[in-house]
Amino acid sequence: MSDDALDRIAHRLIRERLQPELVRTPSLSALVAERCSKHRMDSPVQYAELVERSDEEVGWLRAQIAVPETWLFRYPDSFEYLRRWVVEHRHRWSEQRPLRILSIACASGAEPLSAMIASASALVECGLDPSMAVRTVQADALDPNAAAIEAATSGQLPRMALRAELPAWAQRWVTMHNGMPRIDPQVRERCTFECGSAPMCLLQRPAAIYDVVYCRNLAIYLNEAGRREIGVQITRLLAAHGIVLLGHADRPALLGLDAELVSLQAAPASAFMFRRRHDTHAEPRPPAPSSRGGDIAAAPNGGGSQATFLGAQRAADEGRLDEARTAATALHAGGAREPALLHLLGTLALAAGDDPAAEQWLRQVVYAEPNHDEALLTMAVLAERRGDMEGGRRFRQRASLGAGGES
Ligand SMILES: C[S@@+](CC[C@H](N)C(=O)[O-])C[C@H]1O[C@@H](n2cnc3c(N)ncnc32)[C@H](O)[C@@H]1O
Repeated sequence: MSDDALDRIAHRLIRERLQPELVRTPSLSALVAERCSKHRMDSPVQYAELVERSDEEVGWLRAQIAVPETWLFRYPDSFEYLRRWVVEHRHRWSEQRPLRILSIACASGAEPLSAMIASASALVECGLDPSMAVRTVQADALDPNAAAIEAATSGQLPRMALRAELPAWAQRWVTMHNGMPRIDPQVRERCTFECGSAPMCLLQRPAAIYDVVYCRNLAIYLNEAGRREIGVQITRLLAAHGIVLLGHADRPALLGLDAELVSLQAAPASAFMFRRRHDTHAEPRPPAPSSRGGDIAAAPNGGGSQATFLGAQRAADEGRLDEARTAATALHAGGAREPALLHLLGTLALAAGDDPAAEQWLRQVVYAEPNHDEALLTMAVLAERRGDMEGGRRFRQRASLGAGGES
């Protein structure tokens, strides 16, 4: 096969910012032979000319190199931890100023849709009704693969889009039809999909608008210039206290962001989550700060394992709510009255749907610690749910005046 024609095709793909090593492999000859036969062309030179003038043909070649493979809740730890992060920061978002997610290289959309669902489910846990929770989140996603974007827009994801059991918190928004996952239309409507490439598609967007930026499993396909240009856009677009999620083979250094981003300390390494180096606000607060109780141990009760506050908090964070409730109740029965423990009991009652019990616990929290902004905001939501809008307004006002919040 003519080396000259292959070189022209490879150059065209490198101009698309693809990695030179990937476009110069022997498989390029095989791809060109396949396309010559499809287009009934006698020579690769003719095909090189087609590639030079046809974006569609470039798109086909790119899809063979950067395969649009993705699935729902890929890297499950990252979604579990995203939920925890959203709970921690929930007072930053509202219907007017939603939590904004960007997914660069979304393929058929499983990534932004998973992020939307994880975030909305966390807001439900904070007391929003499901419909309002979805309206408090918004995602923008892009990928140059037209077929993948079409699948994403339809909300009918391919069979392989679900590869593990659906998390319980996602079941409200994902249903199975003939073995294929279908996304709730309300979630899909909050997600815009654009057919286009980074960094070009990002240049016109306003700065500092995204709270959560995904750029997973793209950098490995791109040349250095492409990766760095995207890195520049990620830092430009990331809002204050925002986070960046990468893939298992990505590192901030690949995007030229090693000086800019550091791992989120509190997240497991398998979540591949990062924040700005100097932005400690992006980290969730430690579960038991000393001012709110330190670690508390229940008095030994004749042989059973000793419950600790940190153990109860960890169980709650990991979704083992019954275990968390048993441990927290044992601590309380043993005489512990620290605000952190009372707050955890309130949160657990809320998760169980027991609003009156949650209010009782939270009232004790704000009695002991009048500026506890998280408790005040949850009290506000609970009061509003009862129809007490004035009470809700007062709690919100107290929270915004308090010392502890970021509001
Ligand atoms: C392996 S998929 C990653 C999907 C998803 N981010 C994930 O991790 O599950 C790689 C995607 O990168 C897309 N892609 C290739 N070049 C791109 C570019 N310059 N800008 C945005 N996406 C690109 C491909 O079309 C493909 O869908």
